[in-house]
Parts: sequence; structure tokens; C-alpha cells
Amino acid sequence: MSGLLSVEGKTALVTGGGSGIGQMIAQVLVAQGVRTYIVGRTRATLEATAAELSATGTCIALPGDLSTVEGGRAVAAAFAQLEPKLDLLVNNAGTMYDAPIADFTEEGWDSVVDLNLKSVFFLTQALLPQLRAAASAETHAAVVNIGSIGGLRIGPKENYSYQAAKAALHHMSGGLAKRLAAENITVNAIAPGFFPSALTPVDQPEIVEMMSNMVPRKRIGTPEDIGGTVAFLASRAASFITGAVIPLEGGMAL
Ligand SMILES: NC(=O)c1ccc[n+]([C@@H]2O[C@H](COP(=O)([O-])OP(=O)(O)OC[C@H]3O[C@@H](n4cnc5c(N)ncnc54)[C@H](OP(=O)(O)O)[C@@H]3O)[C@@H](O)[C@H]2O)c1
Repeated sequence: MSGLLSVEGKTALVTGGGSGIGQMIAQVLVAQGVRTYIVGRTRATLEATAAELSATGTCIALPGDLSTVEGGRAVAAAFAQLEPKLDLLVNNAGTMYDAPIADFTEEGWDSVVDLNLKSVFFLTQALLPQLRAAASAETHAAVVNIGSIGGLRIGPKENYSYQAAKAALHHMSGGLAKRLAAENITVNAIAPGFFPSALTPVDQPEIVEMMSNMVPRKRIGTPEDIGGTVAFLASRAASFITGAVIPLEGGMAL
């Protein structure tokens, strides 16, 4: 039973790992001994995060734009040049757009659905050879898709394309899980509530308090919460969990 919850020695790729929730996930993985690649468009941000996180382990910047299928394929090709296998793919990069129904634009629809849904499918497809190379009956490979509480229930914002893309991402995770289960690859989604990031700015104590009061657990999320859940899904302990959508929101969706 030793090592049941360990992820030490694994290799991970975290999209959007240079900031926000992706950085929190990468921080925990690196500290747990996972060789962690982080992907994003802004090279300077990625390199600064990789340098900071490398204080506790190995974190490598892999710049790329995932908003197009070709961009995702380029990232997968660059990864394949560096590593023969991938134990954990975290599809976290995402964007949000909201506008009143009458003003909602096609660009606001396409940019969100392309990155939050379409790119997740095609990046996973492009990295299947490396996921398959890591997966065996004894040790599964894991895909973790970062969805949202906004895909579980409707919040106050008029973010129609985000609601649709996240609900679809949760459902698509089940489709991928069913197809890849026999190949020892699990696919799960995490649906976060409030976590501090550019998407959910918490620069004022009053905002943190206001958000915390909306959460039954009376606080917002931390790196341990999101990174710990991702690490668990990659560990032997979670090998039998696939196709799940795990709410990670302190009870907010109840
Ligand atoms: N924070 C929350 O409370 C919350 C709640 C529920 C769900 N989520 C989900 O969590 C995920 C992360 O969100 P976040 O809050 O951490 O947002 P964030 O701070 O805005 O981070 C988004 C990350 O994605 C990267 N990214 C954006 N567009 C990209 C592209 N075209 N190609 C590659 N990378 C790209 C960004 O880096 P570059 O700009 O350098 O590319 C950035 O590192 C998203 O899927 C979001 O929907 C967040």
C-alpha cells in the first residue's frame, strides 16, 4: 500500500500553468515531485513561474497558444520532442466573456468555446500517444479537465458561452472517459468555485469576505484544494475514478 497517494516521479502538463488556478496546480505538483510542464501564451510569465516553482522541484515553461487546433498540435509536438510519456494532462487554460444578451457577440461566443471546449478535445487527441505510453494496468494515466461551478448551475453573470462550454466540457469528459478507460487512461473534470485569479480578482478584503459568505465552508479555494484534488486523481488511489465531475467549491452548489 505504500505510495498509494504518491505522484512522485510522474510527468505532467498543465495548460494555463503560468498564473491563477493553473499555477496553483503546478505549484502543488512540483512540490510533490512531479516533473511539470506549464503552457501559456506569455513566455515571460511562464518563465517567471517556472523559475519560482523550480525552487521545490522541476517546472518547465512550454509557450504556446491553445486557441486554435494547430496551436494545440504545435504544443503537443514540442512536448513529444522532450518527453516520451505523459502521466497527467491538466486542461486548465480558459477564458470568460460576459455581456447583456442583446450585445453578446459572435467573437465572445467563439473565443470561449474554442479555448474552453474545442482545444481541450484536440490537445487531448494530440497527446494520446504520450498518455498511452504512460498508461498500464498497474499505473493509469490521467486527464483532468478544469470545468466550473458555472457549468453546474447558473450564476449571476450573463456569460452564455462560458456556461455552455463548461457544461459541455463536463459531459465530454464522460465521453472521453468511457472511450479511454480500457486503455488505462482516466478522464475526470473538476468544477471549481471561487479561486483567486485574474478571472476571479480578490484584491480587496471586502471581496474575499463577500465571496466567503456565499460559500458554506466560509472561505475561497487555495492551492492545496485544487492541487491536492488534481494530484489525488493522478495517484493510484484514484485509478478506479473516471468520468466524474468533482465539485470543488466548498458546498456552493448545494
Ligand atoms: N478562478 C476561478 O474562480 C475559477 C472558477 C471556476 C473555473 N475556473 C476555471 O479555471 C481555469 C483557470 O482560470 P483562472 O481563474 O486561473 O484564470 P486566469 O488567471 O485568467 O488564467 C488563465 C490561464 O490560461 C492561459 N491562457 C489563456 N488563453 C490561452 C491560450 N489561448 N493558450 C494558452 N494558454 C492560455 C493564461 O495564460 P496567457 O494569458 O499567458 O496565455 C493563464 O495562465 C479556467 O478554465 C477557468 O474557467 C476558474
